Amino acid sequence: MSGPLVLGIETSCDETGVGIVRGNQLLANEVASSMELHARFGGVVPEVASRAHLEAMVPTLERALATAGVDPVELDAIAVTAGPGLMGALAVGVATAKASALAWDKPLYGVNHLVGHVAVDLLDHGELPTPCAALLVSGGHTSLLMVRDVVGDIVELGATIDDAAGEAYDKVARVLGLSYPGGPVIDKAATGSPTAIAFPRGLTSRRDLERHRYDFSFSGLKTAVARWVEIAERDGVDYELGDVAASFQEAVCDVLVTKALDACRTNGIEHLLIGGGVAANSRLRSMLAERAPEAGVEVRSPRPALCTDNGAMIAALGAAVVSAGLPPSSPDFSATSSLPVSTVLV
Ligand code: KG4
Ligand code: ZN
Repeated sequence: MSGPLVLGIETSCDETGVGIVRGNQLLANEVASSMELHARFGGVVPEVASRAHLEAMVPTLERALATAGVDPVELDAIAVTAGPGLMGALAVGVATAKASALAWDKPLYGVNHLVGHVAVDLLDHGELPTPCAALLVSGGHTSLLMVRDVVGDIVELGATIDDAAGEAYDKVARVLGLSYPGGPVIDKAATGSPTAIAFPRGLTSRRDLERHRYDFSFSGLKTAVARWVEIAERDGVDYELGDVAASFQEAVCDVLVTKALDACRTNGIEHLLIGGGVAANSRLRSMLAERAPEAGVEVRSPRPALCTDNGAMIAALGAAVVSAGLPPSSPDFSATSSLPVSTVLV
């Protein structure tokens, strides 16, 4: 195995991640999560996340170097998430990466978090067939991308106009009295009938499709579930939690799968990559297995540990960028919380 030896730092949300790769080979992937600290708030609290990154950063970096058996002098480059993400959280990673690059005299690459979710699949499945569609679904983002070249040609076909898919899971879990993060709990609780309740599919009406064909909206669905539960409880209706969870999950997955496969069909794309925490969802995976073959689409997904936020995805993108011969970022770049996906490298 060959390729550049790259260390990647990720701090855009609530995971402090440091990964080390050599080309497409994964050498270390150390992650410290502050998720438990946010649990009682039902969502990520930015200030709490920033502080947790400060505490976890150096130990996580040291663990990654030790796991990979790499001395910093050997590194060819350092890559760091420059955005999008929470400003204070991103700043911790960027400051660490700049200090390390200066101390170890290494070129520094500030890269896009969303593109990292795509590039990480290189570590599991090698070269990406292009063009490829990517459905990135997590607590912070819901994006549908067309990838022609992972280091330079990425177009956002659509994104959520309100809540992210994982955020909808987290909020609905709260409504149902389930714990945080809601995704895995609802996935497990969804043992009832997916057709028991006809929850709305956001942005799928004929009129919406004209303007928002590949965009998503989950806020109306969340409200519909809350309203349904409220009325059932008011009227003393004895309902099955499993039915509500399964019907909600069916609505989320139906929209994600329908829009992703529509994007593939319309743009002549034969490969769909899924990433982000929600990509671990069992119904999303089974629905894709049912519907993708008839759309002539092959689905790729990195292993679950690489689907959620981590440093290896940033290292993988950094290695791809270095291999493509792109120049390092200017030393005075700063984190950009709303970095567009078309900016792979700042
Ligand atoms: O990618 P991730 O670890 O962090 C970011 O949000 O960036 O994703 C976490 C999100 C949470 O909203 C969580 O509820 C959701 O992914 N999630 C799931 C599942 N596992 C995690 N959602 C649905 N089904 C799952 N099995
Ligand atoms: Zn992410």
